[in-house]
Amino acid sequence: MAQTDLQPITVDTATRVFGVIGHPVFHSKSPVMHNRAFAVTGYPAIYAAFDVTDIEPAAEGIRALGICGASVTIPHKTTVMKHLDAIDDQARKIGAVNTIVNNKGWLKGYNTDSYGAVHALLDQTGLSGKTVMIIGAGGAARAVGHGLCEHPGTRVFLTNRTEKHGLILAQDLDAGFVPLEKLETTDFDILVNTTPVGMYPHTDEMPVPESVLRPEMVIMDIVYNPLETKLLYTARTRGCKVIDGVGMFVYQGARQFALWTALEPPVAQMRQVVYDTLNNY
Ligand code: ATR
Repeated sequence: MAQTDLQPITVDTATRVFGVIGHPVFHSKSPVMHNRAFAVTGYPAIYAAFDVTDIEPAAEGIRALGICGASVTIPHKTTVMKHLDAIDDQARKIGAVNTIVNNKGWLKGYNTDSYGAVHALLDQTGLSGKTVMIIGAGGAARAVGHGLCEHPGTRVFLTNRTEKHGLILAQDLDAGFVPLEKLETTDFDILVNTTPVGMYPHTDEMPVPESVLRPEMVIMDIVYNPLETKLLYTARTRGCKVIDGVGMFVYQGARQFALWTALEPPVAQMRQVVYDTLNNY
């Protein structure tokens, strides 16, 4: 549905308030994505951006103001946890919360990043019987790795610039570790970049050499600035199937929407508005 087909929302005393909490949040695409989801489903809510440096009073503010739910982003995904009343099992395992649900002042934290990564992949490829290679060992790799390790029939390996970091995460996840220099001679079906390599302004960088990419592979990048990273451009021109960073972003948001509203998320419209916003940037 084009934005012009949507009715402007009436904000009144029954309107529910949601938002993203982070620092900085100026570039966040969550407000346009969630406001579009509310508009197309007719859910009576608005979604704002809160630039927050101190997370403790922000968590208290959610309770005090009756804010119904929040997305949590950098740098608060871990520190927010001690200010919540309950943490979902998967978020606890990942060690990070990106979603808060407020149930009458009782705040529960979730992590929808792993769901986002798995569903962005499932949109384009099967995962059972497949071998996935994750590049990176930071917070994003941890969330993506957890989701994939829980998926039945998926074998997961990690590679990373600093071997020690990669080995620690691989052990935590019960995944395999492959040194970067061995990637070319290792068999895998799917490659997921979770590092910031290739992100603006370093758009001419790639996290792995071109020779690693074979036409039968699926390559996903969680970077979406630019939309087509050098990794994805190179993979596409070598005949691989590619999945850009909007995929994971939209599915993690779709899962948030479902947790907040108990409605079916309008994934296609959420994806479209994010692409429109990025393309007009
Ligand atoms: P996040 O928590 O957002 O995932 P992070 O903790 O900064 O981000 O993790 C960054 C990941 O990207 C790490 O795996 C890091 O590799 P190291 O363990 O060697 O630090 C990787 N990374 C960051 N910049 C990189 C670069 N220029 N080249 C290769 N890997 C890089």
